[in-house]
Amino acid sequence: MFGISRRELLLGGGATAAASLASGLAASRAFAADLTLPVSTLDHSIVPGTVTQGMMSFAPDGPPPVIRMRQGESFAIDVANGIDEATTVHWHGLRVPNAMDGVPYLTQEPVEPGGRVRYTLNSPDAGTYWYHPHCNTLDQMARGLTGLLVVEDAEDPGFDRDLPLNIRDFRLGGDGQFIALFKARNAARGGTLGTVSTVNWQTEPVYELPAGSLVRLRLAVTDVTRVGTYDLDGGLAQVIALDSNPLPRPVAPKGIVIAPGQRADIALRVPDREEETVRLTLRTPAGPRTLATVRPVGASARRDLAELRPLRPNPVPEPDLANAETVDFLFGWSPEGDEPVPSFCGSLGYTFWSINRVAWQGDTPSPVDPLAVLKQGRSYILRLRNETQNDHPIHLHGMSFRLLRSDKRKIPPLVTDTALLRSQETMEVALVADNPGNWVFHCHVIEHQKTGLTGYLRVE
Ligand code: C2O
Ligand code: CU
Ligand code: CU
Repeated sequence: MFGISRRELLLGGGATAAASLASGLAASRAFAADLTLPVSTLDHSIVPGTVTQGMMSFAPDGPPPVIRMRQGESFAIDVANGIDEATTVHWHGLRVPNAMDGVPYLTQEPVEPGGRVRYTLNSPDAGTYWYHPHCNTLDQMARGLTGLLVVEDAEDPGFDRDLPLNIRDFRLGGDGQFIALFKARNAARGGTLGTVSTVNWQTEPVYELPAGSLVRLRLAVTDVTRVGTYDLDGGLAQVIALDSNPLPRPVAPKGIVIAPGQRADIALRVPDREEETVRLTLRTPAGPRTLATVRPVGASARRDLAELRPLRPNPVPEPDLANAETVDFLFGWSPEGDEPVPSFCGSLGYTFWSINRVAWQGDTPSPVDPLAVLKQGRSYILRLRNETQNDHPIHLHGMSFRLLRSDKRKIPPLVTDTALLRSQETMEVALVADNPGNWVFHCHVIEHQKTGLTGYLRVE
């Protein structure tokens, strides 16, 4: 169930390997994964003129690849652990069977150095997703282990191009080398910000795209900390999906708030003329910071946004609100203060946060009890109360949920897997507990996740 490690293959699997070689192509085809992700350490240039040492990627020599699969089709991925610590891979936002969810101890054993594991995925939903480790999460993600995963719509919406944008920071000093990946005093507040903004591991990349064409920009914020506000200026553009789910009515790409873990899909009609560039910017106290630029090239294709077919809603079950039970979750301070706690698979050594007054001590071999046990097939309203001064992007594995209401603001009835819970806000969301297993429920500011703001729901 947990795959075969390379060591097991070498020690005990000799006969099996020989047999499948002898039986030829058919056997090797049956056993070949669609993709192998070699978890690697590498030196790579992020800031021009410097080479950052000790980066990590899902490729030996560059940024993590964009994984592409099709809605409703099976896709097998082999993860080969080539770094010198244990890891797992989690498919953020994908509604997969629990055994494929990639959470150490809760759904699988950690993959030791030199080990391999196969994940077989089949997404009922289309959209923009991403993948990352769930072991020693802060360190591995901060060093680069965050990649995008695209589930192509079963029905082609009609774009000319598709451009995934992996938006994240790195914490680098002036010499391009990693500085302390977090500071405890920040972990107890909003989290530690990076120092260098990147898109697809580049600072201010320029993308040349056919003038007048229709491009799907897939923005994913895979940063460990930053809750950002983004603007797209130039061309004609509309936000068509948030967190993989199509918007009933597209909105202008202005002031889009994207928290760690969240995504935004934008339909862009590239301008006709080369001097009319399109800029993606992040709002900062010092003014807008350019993250990426689109430059039109060639004669205009003269396409029109109205030619796009609307995205199909994903087949997420609709909760039965009249018969839903309400379950309360309180996101708060840790009752234990900042005492270091022993842990496995990557404790940061502190507890600052809690859910329902329990600080989860990381991904431990003997997890605490579930926060709640949900009956399979029943509808639930999750009441999420944030008593802290900080924002928390709250993420649930394995199931999508619908936003119902907030006591602080009007929120659209979106379907998501990661909801940004503002300081002192109470939000209600609803879901059908249709996916059996243990599902992690945590803040996606990784320093919060790893210092207590993690628990899990059990569906049985
Ligand atoms: Cu991207 Cu446990 O999550
Ligand atoms: Cu997830
Ligand atoms: Cu948080």
